Amino acid sequence: SLPKQVKIVEVGPRDGLQNEKNIVPTQVKISLINMLSETGLPVIEATSFVSPKWVPQMADHTEVLQGIQKFPGVSYPVLTPNLKGFQAAVAAGAKEVSIFGAASELFTKKNINCSIEESLQRFSEVMHAAGAAGIAVRGYVSCVLGCPYEGKIAPAKVAEVSKKMYSMGCYEISLGDTIGVGTPGSMKEMLSAVMKEVPVGALAVHCHDTYGQALANTLVALQMGVSVVDSSVAGLGGCPYAQGASGNVATEDLVYMLHGLGIHTGVDLQKLMEAGVFICKALNRRTSSKVVQASSRL
Ligand code: HMG
Ligand code: MG
Repeated sequence: SLPKQVKIVEVGPRDGLQNEKNIVPTQVKISLINMLSETGLPVIEATSFVSPKWVPQMADHTEVLQGIQKFPGVSYPVLTPNLKGFQAAVAAGAKEVSIFGAASELFTKKNINCSIEESLQRFSEVMHAAGAAGIAVRGYVSCVLGCPYEGKIAPAKVAEVSKKMYSMGCYEISLGDTIGVGTPGSMKEMLSAVMKEVPVGALAVHCHDTYGQALANTLVALQMGVSVVDSSVAGLGGCPYAQGASGNVATEDLVYMLHGLGIHTGVDLQKLMEAGVFICKALNRRTSSKVVQASSRL
């Protein structure tokens, strides 16, 4: 059976923009987040406190976080790979952060330059500091349905890393199909393994749409009891350390599907589509949302 309500975590300003080659003006990022805040979305991932040498697009993290309007009831988490990032995020006013690990050794090395074991050590430092500061921490696990460097990833490995990050105190674990290779079958197998270690109420799915499976994979997760879904306005995005991967499922398409199923999201689809049109114009690219493509034709 399906959940009555789904919490959508909008990752467009972070996942959506981090992979853009041309530096997007800070003011455009701020305007995008402000428009998204108007739509009723409960969570908008705003930026990343990562090394500007690794991801130049996120170098304006402090200006973005400080420049946006903070809507009551909306949270604006940011990515923090280590204590340095955490401290910079808190100094900039972050009230919630996300740590990001992976179920693949090689991806962890390429993405955050350490082993899985070392990454967990760094995360536990962040968890301690966050606990002391009263900051909520979300945990990402990448490559849950496949890795650009290792190929197939065992569901048991995903379950193991998820359990470790949940046990550290992450309130939610977002399972990332980083390169969008999963299918409803592999999603079901992986989720069954993870649900034995982490309560389903603490799980989210984060599906990239590279192979066109993101909406189908998300639906399977909903049927299995997951009620938190990550998505990106206009389907923007990808990871700089997963070349060729496309963006997350478009938030517009996710909202259209959820509302069609009678599932409450609190999101105004019309306003969301306007935010998508705004950012596509600014980036000079076509939306990946099928719903938006269809509505401009019909
Ligand atoms: P490193 O080079 O191993 O770090 O990078 P280091 O500790 O050796 O430090 C090297 C330099 O970086 C030093 O500066 C540090 O101060 C600085 P220098 O002395 O050379 O001038 N530094 C930092 N600067 C700013 N913020 C920081 C920070 N930490 C160190 N937090 C590091 C390690 C983790 C920093 C690097 O690998 C990094 O920034 N990686 C980020 C990669 C990234 O952002 N990837 C995309 C997000 S993940 C994703 O997209 C997947 C997801 O969407 C889920 C899914 O789809 O599966 C979440
Ligand atoms: Mg992602």
